[in-house]
Amino acid sequence: MRFVFLFCLLFFANFENSFAWKTFHNGRTVGGNLGEPHHNNFMKNDINDFERWFSQNLDHFNPTEETKWQQRYFVNDEFFDNKARNVVFLQIGGEGEASDKWMTQGAWIDYAKEYKALCFQLEHRFYGKSHPTRDLSVKNLQYLTSQQALADLAVFIEKINVQYELSPDVKWIAFGGSYPGSLAAWLRQKYPHLVHGAMSASGPLLAQLDFKDYFRVINEDLKTTSEECFKAVQQGTQQINTLLKHMVGQRKLNKLFNLCDPLEKTINNPMDISNFFETLAGNFANIAQYNKDNRIGKSATGNITLDTLCNIMINQTIGPQVHRLAVVNELTLEAYDQKCLDYKYDNMIEDLRNVSWDSEQAEGGRQWTYQTCTEFAFFQSSAYEPQLFGNNFPASFYVQQCEDIFGPKFNESYIGRAIERTNTLYGALDIQVDNVVFVHGSVDPWHALGITETKLAKAPAIYIEGTAHCANMYPPKDDDLPQLKAARKEIKKLIGTWLQQ
Ligand SMILES: *[C@@H]1O[C@H](CO)[C@@H](O)[C@H](O)[C@H]1NC(C)=O
Ligand SMILES: *[C@@H]1O[C@H](CO)[C@@H](O)[C@H](O)[C@H]1NC(C)=O
Ligand SMILES: *[C@@H]1O[C@H](CO)[C@@H](O)[C@H](O)[C@H]1NC(C)=O
Ligand SMILES: *[C@@H]1O[C@H](CO)[C@@H](O)[C@H](O)[C@H]1NC(C)=O
Repeated sequence: MRFVFLFCLLFFANFENSFAWKTFHNGRTVGGNLGEPHHNNFMKNDINDFERWFSQNLDHFNPTEETKWQQRYFVNDEFFDNKARNVVFLQIGGEGEASDKWMTQGAWIDYAKEYKALCFQLEHRFYGKSHPTRDLSVKNLQYLTSQQALADLAVFIEKINVQYELSPDVKWIAFGGSYPGSLAAWLRQKYPHLVHGAMSASGPLLAQLDFKDYFRVINEDLKTTSEECFKAVQQGTQQINTLLKHMVGQRKLNKLFNLCDPLEKTINNPMDISNFFETLAGNFANIAQYNKDNRIGKSATGNITLDTLCNIMINQTIGPQVHRLAVVNELTLEAYDQKCLDYKYDNMIEDLRNVSWDSEQAEGGRQWTYQTCTEFAFFQSSAYEPQLFGNNFPASFYVQQCEDIFGPKFNESYIGRAIERTNTLYGALDIQVDNVVFVHGSVDPWHALGITETKLAKAPAIYIEGTAHCANMYPPKDDDLPQLKAARKEIKKLIGTWLQQ
């Protein structure tokens, strides 16, 4: 998702000179939406200690298709009770490269120590180094679906049970954050004979074309930080709209926002203007979604928080609100090492059309966009009122991207049917499961598509006031909010209960 759905931020160094690179697209941050845990005493390990490969089916749903490919996984047996051999934890990979750092860090590792679990992480097909096909052509991407990914996990579990000679009463507990949070719940739903319980963090369960509530939560986040900040952003947007109306204003915006291409040449291209506003909105969304989480050290936006942005937005010394928006923009450009802001729609589309595994967007941008166009949509439109960044990026803006990137077939009626299918196959918010805990944070816009209130006693929800995307998965810190500390404890207790059953 242009700024958001999950991802770790290892990749920036490679992209220093690429203007067209979008760091946050469709709610997905470059690298994926689950960041990496804080890097403390990790140095003693290297990736080879954990990395393994296994032979996976290309198509689980067509018995005549026998093609295989190599899927990557990580294993850590340091905490495993070798005698009992009956507790296994599985972290589900998602829309970015899997990180071996999770094999020694994160809340789940603390749980693994407690319950003596064997720990695995399976990289999601088509992301990271798990390449089922020669390239990312539309024809090959037919094998990129959440159903195939869940079946990958099922086959993996069966194979590991044999290969590691696990006890017949082995209990697998799945963990996932963001899209893998959804997968964790769906895995328990679809394969209850293989997976005993699941921790589903920040998982959107409802596929939706116009995810306008995304910006409802961003509005609330800004208002919670300060009402004045919220108003300043709105006023800044209005000032941009005024400046856009004439050439002197357009030139002023070129300079203020450090634009790679002059606005006066593209003013009649509505897609460029939409992309410009969406990028500005993304500057805020990308920070709000991860506000004060524990991804320290690895995230490009590092210690930038909503407080940082709002302190800029209410600082009158900087000048009118549009100037303050420009300072926020500069902060983001610097964080991602961008020399100027590339808002050209065609540049973005061209990058996303590249089918090569060597392209920049193959880190997951193209793949995740494909999954939004064919399964989930989740289009983070500007339709929520009151509008913060104008109404220049409606859901139709994202539908157009699907058509332009993947072909005219991927139009609104196609996406509508795709969403319906997804919600039918998984049950959306009416999912019937037990031994699943749904965890969300109030600051994270993704909670709007998830389960935040307990509806089934055996599938409780934990809604954490004041935390962001996947916050409970990162390693604990002393200054974590008390309700976050309590949530981690509660999850540990629940897992203990499941393991006793
Ligand atoms: C962010 O952290 C860096 C060091 O990691 C520090 O130099 C910088 O001042 C910090 N910025 C803010 C806004 O706190
Ligand atoms: C406001 O912005 C000015 C100019 O950039 C800066 O010198 C000042 O420190 C800022 N004030 C606060 C309270 O951040
Ligand atoms: C796709 O990306 C690769 C690697 O960056 C590049 O060499 C190639 O020219 C790109 N293909 C197209 C059609 O732009
Ligand atoms: C979408 O494309 C199909 C052909 O693939 C076409 O029949 C249909 O009318 C199109 N729908 C819209 C809303 O454009």
